[in-house]
Amino acid sequence: MPEEFFELLSDSQTPPTYKFFNGSAWVSGASGPPAGEAGKTTPVISPIDQSVVGNLTTATTAEIDEIVIKLKSAQPAWEAKPLNQRVKIMHLVADWVHHYEEYLTTLLVREIGKSVGESKSEIVRTAELTDYFADEVQSIHGETINSDDFPGYDKGITAMVERVAHGVVLCIAPFNYPVNLAASKIVPALLMGNTVLFKPPTQGGISGVHLARIFEKAGVPPDVFACVTGGGNEIGDYLVSHKNIDAVAFTGSSDTGVAIAGKAPMKPLLFECGGNNPAIVFPDADLNLTAREIVKGGFSYAGQRCTAIKYVLGTKGVLDTLIPVVLAQMKELIHVGDPRSPETKLVGPVISPDVAQKIQGWIDESVGLGAKVEVGGKHDKAYIEPTILINVTPTMPVIVNEVFGPVVSFIEVPGMGDAATIINQTRFGLQACVFTKDEGTGIVYAKSLNVGTVQINGSPQRGPDHFPFLGVKHSGIGVQGVRYSLEAMSRLKPVVLNKPQ
Ligand code: G3P
Repeated sequence: MPEEFFELLSDSQTPPTYKFFNGSAWVSGASGPPAGEAGKTTPVISPIDQSVVGNLTTATTAEIDEIVIKLKSAQPAWEAKPLNQRVKIMHLVADWVHHYEEYLTTLLVREIGKSVGESKSEIVRTAELTDYFADEVQSIHGETINSDDFPGYDKGITAMVERVAHGVVLCIAPFNYPVNLAASKIVPALLMGNTVLFKPPTQGGISGVHLARIFEKAGVPPDVFACVTGGGNEIGDYLVSHKNIDAVAFTGSSDTGVAIAGKAPMKPLLFECGGNNPAIVFPDADLNLTAREIVKGGFSYAGQRCTAIKYVLGTKGVLDTLIPVVLAQMKELIHVGDPRSPETKLVGPVISPDVAQKIQGWIDESVGLGAKVEVGGKHDKAYIEPTILINVTPTMPVIVNEVFGPVVSFIEVPGMGDAATIINQTRFGLQACVFTKDEGTGIVYAKSLNVGTVQINGSPQRGPDHFPFLGVKHSGIGVQGVRYSLEAMSRLKPVVLNKPQ
């Protein structure tokens, strides 16, 4: 029964107040000097109807100190454990995630307003990703390197290069994938022998503590994994700048990423930050396919994916023909509504009415500067109408900011070279997608784009999850994707044998 499995996470009141996991016990956090104040809680508000889903407890600085010290001292023994034991535990994590698929899906829908289908897919993907990590880690081996390859050296010096853990890794997950983008950090960190402090987002934090319970129940030993809750503005700085945190893995906005990087100097960082991903449409593109990918890529989960398409570039002739096809596909593929309803397709609410208001401001300012609303353009509480803006220019607020909502802008360009210039001048560089029937043209054009990944004839996406996933400029640091994440959660340690012959 899910209720029994997750019972001790909260005080079972209505709405419940959730405890956090200090590495060995679920605690309600009133035991020490405050980060804000002892026993403080933060409500988690559903974007669907602004009801309180539950409250999260804010960990105090003293509690964080105590947890991090324990994680630090437990780390060497965890790393020394046979890999096959860590692998077994992670497979059990995957099994429990599968087992509670329905329960976690329902929770996710209410907590972050993601549709039932998209929530379910996040949960299933998390279990599959965890299993894949646990399999892949078994093929990561060290190597030996001989000295005589390099000019001037004889045989006799041998580097034995192993992968070792960083130590204590802080894993910070975002609200839009609070389960999957938590596991995508925690699992490789634990498999590589790190201990982990998990900080869920506020919205998504209830799903986050449920995931933490699964790690505990799967058999992660005491003080190898802990989960602390609290607002980013309350405990975030304290966590990232903590002297006993050895590495930080983070997904979130570019502004927060820049701030964290400044507060965690000389630490290994693995960041996935904002994206403002463009679609470039060549004159020979298949317009039906292009329009479908723009609609799916721009509007799924109400545009709240860092890989969402945010703007489309093409010449006047191409956009004049493409936009009516996009509008027709929107009618077919989107049904705005309550994410709990099976009728709802692609667009439910954004994460809060405040965020909707902020996006509305960017739309209105852009219209004031000459953009035109082709469809949508208004919001009610957290629901933003699926919006298409035309006559947009690269300096408008809807382009210079990461609009984490269902808004796609169209920018007319004289030629494809101008499109590349616009893309390369932005501060973002996660992904871009190029639509052309000539794959060769797409491959050549991809070389001119300074972004992490270029998709040809498909919308941007992170998956399949074993592909490398990275952002350049303000879109990220380091590379994720199964093998790449395992490597990022460890470092090379050469031991050099000197035996002159
Ligand atoms: O926004 C998070 C980012 O990782 C998106 O993932 O799978 O929706 O492309 P995905």
